[in-house]
Amino acid sequence: PVLILLGPPGAGKGTQARKLEEAYGMVQLSTGDLLRAAVAAGTDAGKQAKAVMEAGGLVSDEIVLAILQDRLAEDDCAKGVILDGFPRTTVQAEALDGLLERSGQKIDAAISLDVDDAAMVTRISGRFTCGCCGEGYHDTFKPTAKDGVCDCCGGTDMKRRADDNAETVASRLEAYHAQTAPLIGYYEQAGALSRVDAMGEIAAVSRDLSNIVRGVQ
Ligand code: AP5
Ligand code: ZN
Repeated sequence: PVLILLGPPGAGKGTQARKLEEAYGMVQLSTGDLLRAAVAAGTDAGKQAKAVMEAGGLVSDEIVLAILQDRLAEDDCAKGVILDGFPRTTVQAEALDGLLERSGQKIDAAISLDVDDAAMVTRISGRFTCGCCGEGYHDTFKPTAKDGVCDCCGGTDMKRRADDNAETVASRLEAYHAQTAPLIGYYEQAGALSRVDAMGEIAAVSRDLSNIVRGVQ
């Protein structure tokens, strides 16, 4: 299956995609993670993306589509994919439709994680991630059991993102409303949209998502 998680920064796309990946054996495909890897590797795409990401804007469709297309072509994606943070513009959504059509696939569900903007700043400013296994945490909502030690892998290299500051978050929310929120209507029209209340606890959101995924598997 092909699933899309739509939602503003902090909605829980990454958190929930990782859970679905574990539960259903699908592959989490985050364009944010792919772009951060390109920045870290210093590729041409990464060099162009870096400043845009630090300012909280959207990276060009051209760069994002090239990165996504390469990743989608890898063998493991045949198990099914959870698109986390992609598509983010109408151009990307249309390009994805074309890509899937050519490979005889379709979008099984586009799920909008519905949240209040105000809560997103708190979620994002408390976020940190294990640099070793990628598990995501939050100072208040999902702390590690032992201070600074990953519950999953025992790693101690916790990381915070360069774009997780109040100023950049405001720009990211603005970009979401201007360019990404219209995709809710796009997928509603295509008959693929589901909505989930993502203001509840992580486990509750996860249950709602699982119900949707079981329906399309
Ligand atoms: P990206 O990496 O996609 O970031 P984002 O969309 O801003 O989303 P986040 O990762 O911040 O939030 P999330 O929804 O995954 O929340 P999380 O699960 O971590 O993009 C970064 C940048 O890359 C963009 O700004 C852009 O420049 C570029 N980019 C990426 N894709 C692009 C594209 N397609 N086109 C153009 N540019 C692109 O949760 C947040 C925190 O809250 C965590 O600490 C978590 O533990 C906690 N939490 C989660 N759920 C709950 C809950 N229910 N209750 C309480 N706490 C919760
Ligand atoms: Zn870890």
